[in-house]
Amino acid sequence: MDIKIAPSILSADFCNLQSELGAIKSADLVHVDVMDAHFVPNLTIGEPVVKRIAEVSPLPLDIHLMIDSPDIFALDYAFKNVESITFHLAASHAPIRLARKIREKGIKACCALNPAVGLEGLSEILGEFDSVLVMSVEPGFGGQKFLSSQLSKVRRLKKEIEDRGLDIKIEIDGGINRQTIGPACRAGASIIVAGSAIYGEKDRAKAIKELREIAERA
Ligand code: DX5
Ligand code: ZN
Repeated sequence: MDIKIAPSILSADFCNLQSELGAIKSADLVHVDVMDAHFVPNLTIGEPVVKRIAEVSPLPLDIHLMIDSPDIFALDYAFKNVESITFHLAASHAPIRLARKIREKGIKACCALNPAVGLEGLSEILGEFDSVLVMSVEPGFGGQKFLSSQLSKVRRLKKEIEDRGLDIKIEIDGGINRQTIGPACRAGASIIVAGSAIYGEKDRAKAIKELREIAERA
């Protein structure tokens, strides 16, 4: 399987973002977590900071919006060097319209599901997306424990995508490390977000290489 590793800068040193971006250039994407203290109980960075990250990042950005009103704000993140914009299905009032607007900008549209959100409601609109992000922790913080209950959701989603002949990737986010990446990939995930498992290690390039090797063997 074609695996993409997306380090989450949530666990990076926010005072040294440019060097932290340089340290992960052997990865495939930079995962940027935008939190508004409403949709999740944490506050991170917004449009002006993400804009500069997009300008200086050696890798394309994978923007994960954990915000209440993606219908209003998502397009503010449609910068050059942004590969995908992810919004939570539970937060959008018009997910089809929003996915289409994102795609019109030449950016991939990705739909995120919280651990308690099932696949019902997504099936009808699956074809509107380039990828689906399965949260394997409750969103809001890095360093949480992987919820293995989400693996069956990934498997069911993978089967539905294959049965319907769709070209949609599955992304997994939360608690990914050397123990959990294998099961996640075997279940069907191919875009792998990892925050603390990469930025928590002194040698980020080595951490990326090890995760990639385990994922490719899975
Ligand atoms: C959590 C964020 C994740 C987070 C993952 O809400 O969406 O992207 O940074 O961090 P780890 O890999 O440490 O669970
Ligand atoms: Zn994330």
